[in-house]
Amino acid sequence: MIRLKNEKQIEGIRKSCKMLSAMYRELIPLVKPGIQTIEIDMWVRDWIKKAGGRPVFLGYTIKKKPYPAAICISVNEEVIHGIPSKRRIHDGDLVSLDCGIELDGFISDQAVSIEAGNAGETVHELNKVTLECLYRGITAVKAGDRLLQVSRAVESHAKSFGYGIVYDFCGHGTGIQLHEDPQVPNYPHGPNPKMSNGMVLAIEPMINAGTGDVRVLDDEWTVITADGKVSAHWEHTIAVFNGNTEILTDPLESYIFV
Ligand code: MF3
Ligand code: CO
Repeated sequence: MIRLKNEKQIEGIRKSCKMLSAMYRELIPLVKPGIQTIEIDMWVRDWIKKAGGRPVFLGYTIKKKPYPAAICISVNEEVIHGIPSKRRIHDGDLVSLDCGIELDGFISDQAVSIEAGNAGETVHELNKVTLECLYRGITAVKAGDRLLQVSRAVESHAKSFGYGIVYDFCGHGTGIQLHEDPQVPNYPHGPNPKMSNGMVLAIEPMINAGTGDVRVLDDEWTVITADGKVSAHWEHTIAVFNGNTEILTDPLESYIFV
């Protein structure tokens, strides 16, 4: 069931989104070669606590084991749901960060991919194109139109570069719970509801340099590419209301591509 939000609820979700993006603006400069991913998680927990929010991912269960951190940190061939650890970031790594905050009962969800130090041209192009896929998807959001035109927009852009689209995971409704209906796949698949005022969606292309096939590690969370090639991930939370699309999370690319 798709839960449409009223203006007051969208206002609450917007506040949560602004908090999350503010956190990222401080975090992005810290994601450099040498830092351990667990240090990033500690910093994030501390920041969210001080800001008066709650890290939604911490303790979240979709499978058997609760997610054990406040942020997902997926490096290189890791696609999503990477668990922070003692692993250090190295020069040239592509580091995907994905985080969510609950503030006064309202949820935000945003992801970015950061090139640590000097990443090569291949990684840079994948990262740029994945960001473009996100904006192509958002541009395709329109009240009255069908949802899978968003999915088609994401897929066709990625395909034109020969990249692999991750079929096993998708975007989703969000705002009151982290994952709500509808699913927002990055290729046309499954239910195709009409988009309407009051919808709040997390759109999140996960694009691979090689195959779109992925597998989950024994930690039950970390998703990696089947061929070991690099993967990128960008996500915004958006709302449809008064016939317009508002990107509720702030654009962060100018803090990343400097
Ligand atoms: N943005 C991701 C998603 O929508 C993050 C979820 S991580 C989890 O699936 F730990 F909360 F599951
Ligand atoms: Co999400």
